[in-house]
Amino acid sequence: MRIAIVFSSATGNTAQVAQAIQEACQGHEIVAFGPPDQNVDRAELVFAGSWTDKGTMTGEMAAFLHTLYGKRIALFGTAGFGLSEAYFAALVERFKGEVPQGNQVVSTFFCTGKMPQAVRERYEAQLAQNPEDNKVQAMLRAFDLALSHPDRNDLEQAAQFAREALSM
Ligand SMILES: Cc1cc2nc3c(=O)[nH]c(=O)nc-3n(C[C@H](O)[C@H](O)[C@H](O)COP(=O)(O)O)c2cc1C
Repeated sequence: MRIAIVFSSATGNTAQVAQAIQEACQGHEIVAFGPPDQNVDRAELVFAGSWTDKGTMTGEMAAFLHTLYGKRIALFGTAGFGLSEAYFAALVERFKGEVPQGNQVVSTFFCTGKMPQAVRERYEAQLAQNPEDNKVQAMLRAFDLALSHPDRNDLEQAAQFAREALSM
């Protein structure tokens, strides 16, 4: 099958997932791999991924998806606060909302991705101002839990997602 893997990644987490997807696509023809400025005209299946920026995909990935028509699309993403399935499910719906009619979303995958240290420092400063702030405490916990992600298990699940999308 002719495959495109297009992704938006600022700090490398989503790129790591894209790499795992690429490895799972061995034996298929990869016609595009990289940021969302690819020509995917020849692709029969487009893997499209983004990091989560303020609750949704990046503007550049949304703009790319809006150029597609008649494509089978497998959507993937990483998120810093993705430690509950319900949160991932909400993000999936937002991501799907950027896919124009006339395309088909065949599959979706999300995993957690570590955040830059500057984010933790911002929370720490907020907590210093207001030590009882439960919300900031929870954000700090989420930050620390995300530090090891994407991990081996996430990348194996990404490969599994790719193999399933290829078999559909
Ligand atoms: C400016 C900014 C905004 C973010 N907004 C969110 C968000 O709304 N929800 C979330 O779960 N993670 C958020 N994150 C965390 C990133 O989505 C997460 O770390 C992701 O794995 C980064 O992927 P990348 O390494 O491919 O850029 C944000 C990170 C930054 C730097």
